[in-house]
Amino acid sequence: MNTAPSPLLSVRDLQVHFPIAGSGWRRSTEVVRAVDGVSFDIARGTTLAVVGESGSGKTTTALSVMRLAPITSGQVRLGDTQLDEIEGEALRDARKRVQIIFQDPFSSLNPRQRVGEAVRAPLDLMKVGTPEQRRARVDELFAQVGLRPEQQHLFPHQFSGGQRQRINIARALATHPELVVCDEPVSALDVAIRAQILNLLVRLQKEMGLTYLFISHDMAVVEHICDEIAVMYLGQIVERAPRKAFFSNPLHPYSAALLSAVPTVKGGRERAARRLRLVGDPPSPIAPPPGCRFAGRCPAAEPECSRELPPLREVTPGHWVRCRRIEVVNGRALPPLQQEAA
Ligand SMILES: Nc1ncnc2c1ncn2[C@@H]1O[C@H](COP(=O)(O)OP(=O)(O)OP(=O)(O)O)[C@@H](O)[C@H]1O
Ligand SMILES: [Mg+2]
Repeated sequence: MNTAPSPLLSVRDLQVHFPIAGSGWRRSTEVVRAVDGVSFDIARGTTLAVVGESGSGKTTTALSVMRLAPITSGQVRLGDTQLDEIEGEALRDARKRVQIIFQDPFSSLNPRQRVGEAVRAPLDLMKVGTPEQRRARVDELFAQVGLRPEQQHLFPHQFSGGQRQRINIARALATHPELVVCDEPVSALDVAIRAQILNLLVRLQKEMGLTYLFISHDMAVVEHICDEIAVMYLGQIVERAPRKAFFSNPLHPYSAALLSAVPTVKGGRERAARRLRLVGDPPSPIAPPPGCRFAGRCPAAEPECSRELPPLREVTPGHWVRCRRIEVVNGRALPPLQQEAA
């Protein structure tokens, strides 16, 4: 019996391919396969973290969910709304339900606009309530993100990086979104400030029942904030699991390599001792290799790995991995590099 509540966000076989501009008379038919067959669900009120190296397709996945990048094929469903099929008024309405917080809190704020106005702008634009109600809502938002009401009259440069990110969070939450995309929200901040902003995001999630799609390349941050994790490599998910299952038993050699680079993550010190160093660069997203896309850099690769793309398969309940070398022994999945030892 399936008793799981229906997810807020459901993505199926998402592909986002960008055409390459040809030069002169040569019209290119090649495409950048930025997102190449991605599927995941996010349950209401939970956080899915998406991790992976630069260029793996994290931001493009998020932007296409917001319909800000063109969906080549696949389905994106937000609650009962089929986001990939709607246009015009319906799309504008649906977009209010999803907001994004970017990495750099400075460049996403207009330097000439007082921050109170910046937070009120989405409410004005969508004509939410009366002007008096909008003012009250901005007061409420400032309090919720830990800023004082009189700070509304200041300009962005009069704040610290952490405070600016609080302003961005307030603005993103102004219209009561259900899904909030956080794209590296603390990467540009001082280490000392990161925990404060992460704790704020966690508190707001609890208070408002928010659902997060949280993009990061920092495993220590992700371990702190996510319920589930999806690891992307060259446009595809290579592993997807609940947080505990992932951090206690990362299965894909690429996940293990990402984790072993972070000694601060639980168990990372032992992992670092048998460090798996990632050598070389990922292959081109224009012409990905036919087999496993990680095979060329994988310490556990066999010749067969380069022949056929392995499917993302569920090796233990809820734990999915795209690697043909995972073995399940007595109900426990074993990554390839531990099999020799076992
Ligand atoms: N508008 C675009 N046109 C063409 N190619 C694009 C476009 N946007 C992204 N790409 C390409 O798609 C791939 C995925 O990019 P994306 O920005 O989604 O990666 P990312 O995982 O967010 O990386 P980062 O960690 O650096 O932010 C990259 O190869 C990128 O160059
Ligand atoms: Mg990105």
